[in-house]
Amino acid sequence: MVPAFMHRESNMLFRTHQPALAQGTWRAHWRRWALCLGASTLAMAAMAQGSAPPDAVALPDPKAMQQRLSYAPQRITVVEPHLSVQKPHLETYRGFPATLVWDALLGPNWRKPGVDIEIRALDGFISRIPSQRFIQERAFLTFEREGHAQFTMDNPAQHQTNIPLAPWYLVWDNRDRPALIAEGALMWPYQSAKVRISTERQQALMPAGLPASWQAASQLTFGQCLSCHTARGFGGQKMPIDLTVLARNIPEADFVRWVLAPETLRPNTTMPALQERLPQAQREENARLIHRYLLALPPKP
Ligand code: HEC
Repeated sequence: MVPAFMHRESNMLFRTHQPALAQGTWRAHWRRWALCLGASTLAMAAMAQGSAPPDAVALPDPKAMQQRLSYAPQRITVVEPHLSVQKPHLETYRGFPATLVWDALLGPNWRKPGVDIEIRALDGFISRIPSQRFIQERAFLTFEREGHAQFTMDNPAQHQTNIPLAPWYLVWDNRDRPALIAEGALMWPYQSAKVRISTERQQALMPAGLPASWQAASQLTFGQCLSCHTARGFGGQKMPIDLTVLARNIPEADFVRWVLAPETLRPNTTMPALQERLPQAQREENARLIHRYLLALPPKP
């Protein structure tokens, strides 16, 4: 029997969709929804700007990339965040420096301040990484994992095994960078297929009228949640639910419990727990801050 509190808990969280759906059906339902929502969000963004946003460019395959860059792929050894849950785990990949790829595919504008590099993955995950970060730290777009016939990896934090990484997996040279290691895997998009220059972030997350004191919370929410979810239509398409709407339906205590330990409420969920490498008190504070920011943010653009 399901304990009474679990039952209540899942009702809270499931309120926005049908709890009776079988898991498979439910996933298919989400996928279909993701497709519609993805298309309409893009169309809306284009309308809001009065012109189409810069198109995403497909990343060429490794051979074509090598020709385009006139650069032989190099080896890069990193502390692999997906596999370093208990202790640091080194992996070696082969690939190209990201800055060379951006120069070749996006032109010089990607280096401007306030610009994000938007990386779109085949599974709907969207990374938007400040371009300055690529100037300060060394990243590589990789296509091969040394010592492995398949370009795949397990992702214990998301309860998945043998996930395909192809066509491209973005990794960071983090061996001498404790701060990068502490961040976990959110800036390591795999199945990366397309890139574009994105300048929408600040306007979407700090709309006119929202007090500037929310800036830090907006960046926290962006970094931790909006590769998979959206806020006011801005974010990722892996699970394209709008968190500004959802937060208004979930009391803070339930929201915090879900975000800190999703797998205790829904075993095998692919949602990772918030900032597992931080102390528990800090994690709780951050979860509450995210909830309050989502309530402060007006739901509709
Ligand atoms: C890597 C992708 C990913 C990230 C990052 C992520 N989520 Fe999720 N989230 C999911 C998925 C997938 C689900 C659907 C639950 C499942 O897997 O069964 C979900 C479900 C949820 C739900 C419950 C929705 C429901 O209907 O029950 C909430 C609330 C939520 N996420 C909030 C957040 C917040 C807040 C953050 C940031 C702290 C976050 N998520 C980060 C993937 C993600």
